[in-house]
Amino acid sequence: MPSLRRAVAGRGRVGESVLGRPYQHRDGALWCDGVPLEAIATAVGTPAYVYSANALRERFRALDGALAGIPHRIHYSLKANSSRGLLQVLRAEGCRADVVSGGELMRALRAGFPSEHIIFGGVGKRADEIRAALEADILLLNVESAAELDVIESEARALGRRARVGIRVNPEVHVANAHEFIATGSRGHKFGIPWGDVPGVADRVLASPHLELVGLDMHVGSQLLSLAPYTDGVRRLSDLARALQGRGAPLRFFDAGGGLPARYDDEAAPDLTLFAETIVPAVRSLGLELIVEPGRFVVAESGILLTRVLYRKPSGGTDFVICDAGMSDLLRPSHYDAYHAIDAVRPRGARATVDVVGPICETGDFLARDREMDDARPGDLLAVHTTGAYGYVMALTYNTRPRAPEVLVDGTRWGVITRRESLDDLVRLEAETVEWREG
Ligand code: LLP
Repeated sequence: MPSLRRAVAGRGRVGESVLGRPYQHRDGALWCDGVPLEAIATAVGTPAYVYSANALRERFRALDGALAGIPHRIHYSLKANSSRGLLQVLRAEGCRADVVSGGELMRALRAGFPSEHIIFGGVGKRADEIRAALEADILLLNVESAAELDVIESEARALGRRARVGIRVNPEVHVANAHEFIATGSRGHKFGIPWGDVPGVADRVLASPHLELVGLDMHVGSQLLSLAPYTDGVRRLSDLARALQGRGAPLRFFDAGGGLPARYDDEAAPDLTLFAETIVPAVRSLGLELIVEPGRFVVAESGILLTRVLYRKPSGGTDFVICDAGMSDLLRPSHYDAYHAIDAVRPRGARATVDVVGPICETGDFLARDREMDDARPGDLLAVHTTGAYGYVMALTYNTRPRAPEVLVDGTRWGVITRRESLDDLVRLEAETVEWREG
């Protein structure tokens, strides 16, 4: 049976890709653009994340170009990767920011995004995070429940402000995702306001002097290999927008969310022209400005995780390649059973079928299982592909293993954008002696 990943890709329309591949073998070894990965590994050690700045720019420009026919704003979703060095590349391109926590808001501001270029979503915003967003005067907050609206209203009242809000609607569309954990826009998911509750919430926003209804927002899912969920979602959101406009809502934005896919294996690159054709006409006819919130599409393929093989160990019929990166560095394989292609940085020519595992004390600690790939020996370097999104940001320090550094390649230059965590960093927050308090 083909994997769901392949089955869904097979149904989607295959577009001619304008997107390049930043990682190519040259003279027997793998390079990122103009820099050999071996040089980076020698200088910073392993494991290490590496990103191509040119790949980031290329993806931003490709999407920006595809949407050129309508006033639009690309708000990159920081949750995919929020490192300052990477954000600065995107900001310089004219990209804006989508944040989901006070921490990401801080990162966006520190990376130099003007506050009016920031939107804030998320299902569990705390009052202090909402206050920080209102104080910074960001473009809008996407509200995800009636109860959250109460908090936004009371914080706005306390600050003497009028909060610009978008309503994140659960469009309740059917989405065939690669994994149930990354589906978000179907009935019964925790995200967005349930479809049937939206008119009531809109009424409350329209009635409040402290709230201004400026947008409608949806996010139908992530790694969407078919455009069908967008078609359904756009239709539902447009009907809603039209009804609200009829009641005098001062809507400005139609936010179609994120979800554009990355190529992990042999998936087709998303057809951006078709993506635009799916969304733009409806938004144009409403007279609204389009917002999109891509994360994965922008950063996933720009990144690899570089790891060194420590040992080979045959055990019980499985050939283990034990390397110095594991689930704590890249959680996706063990958490979502996600596929990431793995290449030897300097292939030996032979192939082998192996399990690529890390040093973590968990049977679920793997980067690949039952994988036919380059035969790799102790000391060899491996590149785990398509790890620019949801890689570093989901890294853990389990087993007291410091997080890897992040390196940005820009043409023939490279630099460390996040240093390797030290053992001291890991214990810095622990009290040396406990200051006991009476309870
Ligand atoms: N906007 C909203 C409201 C979202 O919930 C998400 C992702 C995005 C935008 C960006 O979606 P993207 O363009 O990256 O698909 N950790 C998972 C992915 C979780 C995505 C959650 N929401 C993974 O590693 O696959």
